[in-house]
Amino acid sequence: DKGNHRHFMAKEIDEQPETISHTLSHYVDMASETAALREGLPFDFASLPRLTISACGTAYYAGCVAKYWFERYARLPVDIDVASEFRYREPPLMPNGLSLFISQSGETADTLAALRYCASQDQHIASLINTLESTIARESDVVFPILCGPEIGVASTKAFTAQLTALAGLAVAAGRARGVLTPEAERQLVHALVGLPSAVSEALRAETQIMEIARHLSRAKDVLYLGRGQMFPIAMEGALKLKEISYIHAEGYPAGELKHGPIALIDEDMPVIVVAPSDELVDKTLSNMQEVAARGGRIILITDEVGANAAGKDVAEIIRIPQVSSFVAPIVATIPVQLLAYHTAVAMGTDVDQPRNLAKSVTVE
Ligand code: M6R
Repeated sequence: DKGNHRHFMAKEIDEQPETISHTLSHYVDMASETAALREGLPFDFASLPRLTISACGTAYYAGCVAKYWFERYARLPVDIDVASEFRYREPPLMPNGLSLFISQSGETADTLAALRYCASQDQHIASLINTLESTIARESDVVFPILCGPEIGVASTKAFTAQLTALAGLAVAAGRARGVLTPEAERQLVHALVGLPSAVSEALRAETQIMEIARHLSRAKDVLYLGRGQMFPIAMEGALKLKEISYIHAEGYPAGELKHGPIALIDEDMPVIVVAPSDELVDKTLSNMQEVAARGGRIILITDEVGANAAGKDVAEIIRIPQVSSFVAPIVATIPVQLLAYHTAVAMGTDVDQPRNLAKSVTVE
């Protein structure tokens, strides 16, 4: 049921404050502000040599963000691949390593094949799943649920933020188990997670401004999304969302790679969406943005108050998100990229919930 919404995608974007809060209540203990692990683990985070993540599409981008978190907050080295590449590379894996598969549907053929390869290589098999009655869930040693409810729109939205929320909780739990996080550091990270539902509600308030920006975006042929660090996967996710439902060509690029090629594409007709909330890397990203501005590119900057003040005058539009800890900023910055894709598609009149050539669950390789 779409309720008062025109599309399932709009409903699923809107319900994220509630779905995130639901996911959180599983992964953190709100009262003590600590990470909670409710699943019995068949492995020990403390002695893990390495974590290998495989997934497809949006689920892969969630894994890319999680790589930053596990490496930063748990000092756990992470390899991440799209499942369709991983499975044929047949990488050597250390016995007793942990392999994690992220899938909303639990039925994606390439992800399942990657899982079966890892199972044959003596890995512990964990999955992060929405549809618990699924093949990937059945074949896993431990299943971490994302608990966002059924997702109907082909373009994944609330499953992505639920995947990120669950992964954030797991990264904090791993950081504690590995002795990396002091109790106070853990409390601060969990405190930031607990603030997510209200930060996401606030981010959703930019919708009217985004509708206006989307009217311009719907006339573009190509759109470039830039991000650095943990915002790079959000740039890729924004580009994927736009491609899927508006059929406009878009690319997510690491901001620092711009001058190694793609800057040649920049002219007045190329909107460039820069995802750069304030963090320790924001100045670098903003200087890449200035290079785009100097070549006439039309910049739409997604940032917070501090980032907006540092941005200078070269920006056509600033979409503001609330000021949050850099730990959870990728989740909050996801909201505007979802809304931009959605309203661009609506402005173009495409079939938002059932885009051409796509299926909700990709069960063929
Ligand atoms: O069900 P899964 O999470 O395994 O699906 C993976 C991708 O097919 C999926 O995320 C796809 O990229 C979405 N259409 C993205 O919006």
